[in-house]
Amino acid sequence: MTRSLSALVALIFVASSAIADEGAALTKEQLDFFETKIRPVLVEQCYKCHAAEAKIIKGGLRLDSRDGLLKGGDTGPSVVPGQADKSLLLKALKYDEIEMPPKGKLPESVVKDFETWIKMGLPDPRKLNDSPKSRTIDIQAGRKFWAFQPVSDPTPPKVKHTAWPFDPIDRFVLAKLEE
Ligand code: HEC
Repeated sequence: MTRSLSALVALIFVASSAIADEGAALTKEQLDFFETKIRPVLVEQCYKCHAAEAKIIKGGLRLDSRDGLLKGGDTGPSVVPGQADKSLLLKALKYDEIEMPPKGKLPESVVKDFETWIKMGLPDPRKLNDSPKSRTIDIQAGRKFWAFQPVSDPTPPKVKHTAWPFDPIDRFVLAKLEE
């Protein structure tokens, strides 16, 4: 038991440092490229239909995090990092088989930027749930829900028409009626 627990702790440690490494691995050039050439296009041209803010996430694809891109949509991963020609996202921008954004092809220079970005290995600092609109769970509020309250044994209220109630529950009902 203790051994499997320490194995688990070790695993979590390794996993979290791997995640931290990935974040730290982005160079300033990569970040600048993403922030100036990629993020604005995604936000303006794609988020309406492919992000947390969309009413219905189109094609099952979220483009508001790196994980979303890698996971992809109904057809599978939308990007294979390093392999632009295998990336559905680039095909879509090139209007090859699928056409995105639907209302008009983006300028060739923008498509080229995306190609470069994928070849760079998809440097992207966005984490899942960065979006302010993503749902959160309020555990404290949830605990107050009536069904989670402990069972108690309240004293039935006093009533005026003492002959009316058959059992104590009726007294709760009658008390409200008399109120
Ligand atoms: C007006 C809504 C809308 C906008 C804006 C939009 N898309 Fe889409 N997208 C869709 C719909 C609907 C589908 C699913 C139907 C289809 O495949 O044509 C889709 C599907 C996709 C898919 C395929 C997902 C899969 O796995 O099947 C990719 C990739 C994609 N979009 C990329 C983009 C990119 C990149 C942008 C921004 C440049 C963008 N889309 C903007 C509506 C939109």
